[in-house]
Amino acid sequence: MNTATAMSGLFEAAKTYPDFDAQERLNRLVGLDEHKDRLTKMLSLLVNPQGLKQWAARHHSGADQLVNMILRRPPLVVLAGDVGSGKSELAETIGDAIARQEDIDITLLPLSLSSRGQGRVGEMTQLISSAFEYTVNEAQKLKSSNGASRGGVILLVDEADALAQSREASQMHHEDKAGVNAFIRGIDRIANGQLPAAVIMCTNRLNALDPAIQRRAADILTFHRPDTEQRFSVLHTPLSQLGFSQPQINSVVEATGPYGDRKYGFTFSDLTQRLIPAIVLDAYPSKAITPDRALRVAQRIEPTPPFLEK
Ligand SMILES: Nc1ncnc2c1ncn2[C@@H]1O[C@H](COP(=O)(O)OP(=O)(O)O)[C@@H](O)[C@H]1O
Ligand SMILES: [Mg+2]
Repeated sequence: MNTATAMSGLFEAAKTYPDFDAQERLNRLVGLDEHKDRLTKMLSLLVNPQGLKQWAARHHSGADQLVNMILRRPPLVVLAGDVGSGKSELAETIGDAIARQEDIDITLLPLSLSSRGQGRVGEMTQLISSAFEYTVNEAQKLKSSNGASRGGVILLVDEADALAQSREASQMHHEDKAGVNAFIRGIDRIANGQLPAAVIMCTNRLNALDPAIQRRAADILTFHRPDTEQRFSVLHTPLSQLGFSQPQINSVVEATGPYGDRKYGFTFSDLTQRLIPAIVLDAYPSKAITPDRALRVAQRIEPTPPFLEK
């Protein structure tokens, strides 16, 4: 399989960082500073082990064991949690922070499993194996003989819910186990080759994550719906640009939280992709937006129900 075929069939468009657009999107994410920080550090170590060795040489020369323990961690980070909470957005933009911090080029290879691999038996397994094959090849090209890497590769396995089902679940189809096994083999291949590559897996179902995958994860970051303060951060600027007062903004913030009998509030994406457009379309094209109408729109929208663990 040549590069062009591999890319066209397998991944959505690959991205390279640093990239200004990604930097902006990353900066727009609310309430994820700690996640950004942890993810940047972890992935930096994985895709650019030379950085850690240089740090150790500077501050703790001779601390080989410590360095090796860290560098031998499986190159996998799991982003898990509620829908619309920024998992994909963070995974698709974090490469920029790593590229800038480490001063190397990062390539992201995005693979979405949501609509894939539902067909023929073996299709998902094949897809995962090919994705790792391609990732390993790309990473090998970036590894120089002196151990320093000229760049790093991040394989993003998004919408990995199908893979997240536990291998131990008795009802699990044979094909799913094969998919999990292919995934684990791929992780181990990157680790054993000490390649400048890492894998980000996103799933809505942490509880169903296969134990063998959980065990390998160097880090598991969990994502939640926005609390009052975070909903305020998202809504404050757009609404104050419309001339809303602080109390008027606060009523919208409140209406998008747990409200009345409803135990849960809006997700981040409910706010940005449903509420704001609905407020605009309610007024467009003939009227201006008013705080009253905006509040009414917020009260009418049903937030996305939380993802129920099966
Ligand atoms: N923490 C956040 N801060 C600001 N906007 C967010 C946040 N999380 C999600 N969003 C908005 O919701 C959209 C969908 O988020 P996404 O990352 O696709 O969610 P998921 O966790 O389901 O992968 C994003 O493009 C962004 O507009
Ligand atoms: Mg997503």
